[in-house]
Amino acid sequence: MRTVYVNGEYLPEDQAKVSVFDRGFLFADAVYEVTSVLDGKLISFPGHAARLQRSLTELEMASPVSDAELLEIHRELITRNDLTEGLIYLQVTRGAADRDFLYPAPETVPTLVLFTQAKPALEHSPMVQTGMKIVTIPDRRWGRRDIKTTQLLYPSMGKMEARARGADDAWMVEDGAVTEGTSNNAYIIKDGVIVTRHLGEEILHGITRKAVLAFAREAQMKVEERPFTVEEALSADEAFITSASSFVTPVVSIDGADIGTGRPGKVVARLREIYLDEMRKAGI
Ligand code: PDD
Repeated sequence: MRTVYVNGEYLPEDQAKVSVFDRGFLFADAVYEVTSVLDGKLISFPGHAARLQRSLTELEMASPVSDAELLEIHRELITRNDLTEGLIYLQVTRGAADRDFLYPAPETVPTLVLFTQAKPALEHSPMVQTGMKIVTIPDRRWGRRDIKTTQLLYPSMGKMEARARGADDAWMVEDGAVTEGTSNNAYIIKDGVIVTRHLGEEILHGITRKAVLAFAREAQMKVEERPFTVEEALSADEAFITSASSFVTPVVSIDGADIGTGRPGKVVARLREIYLDEMRKAGI
């Protein structure tokens, strides 16, 4: 049985409890982070901690612990659960208060929950060999996607629709351009140029995205941060997604049409290799 963390305590997963009045449960008044673990080490922890603070600030939510304490909790969960490869999920909510749309008193104690998910095939996912099939769906999420809130019903519906249409995931489209994947950032490559949507309130500022774009630029690859259309994606040479749970994973078809050769391409394979090599070295 897993050991999870709830508000200062390490507990067996079946003993961990959160109030029915918790605002995360009633209002999705909560933010989260997902950090990957390889060789028992955290990948990009400082980036995830920084984004968490930003999400909390945007929602005027108090931070329950310092970054140092947060790192300590992550490390303790890795040890207690013997985690070598997988994910650590973290959620902070505004805490428990009588149901009211207005935020409760600022002294309300936030809820902090963390748990591990062992994923033995995180690095060697079959998707890396086969590539992913993507379908496009309208982006019907709220307007502050740069805040990593737990309002994940629409992405969840999107993944269900993708599966029903025989695909692996969905890319969301707004005003004719791709915003991002349901739980990842989206990219195309044409004539050696990597194109991905610019940062703004329309997408999550991926921690993996930041690292991958930096490595791409270091390797003298050209990067354009701008909107791209589905038509442009369909004429691309390669396509891929990035996230803490997929790293860099090739996309081989969109709405049933092949991208490039219809097989994972060389540039994406190279980016994945560089990303994993570098992040492993920097793991803590
Ligand atoms: N999702 N865009 C969205 C909408 C996401 O939910 C995520 C991450 C990303 C990629 O961000 P990062 O590189 O920091 O993981 C982009 C996580 C993995 C999840 O919800 O499980």
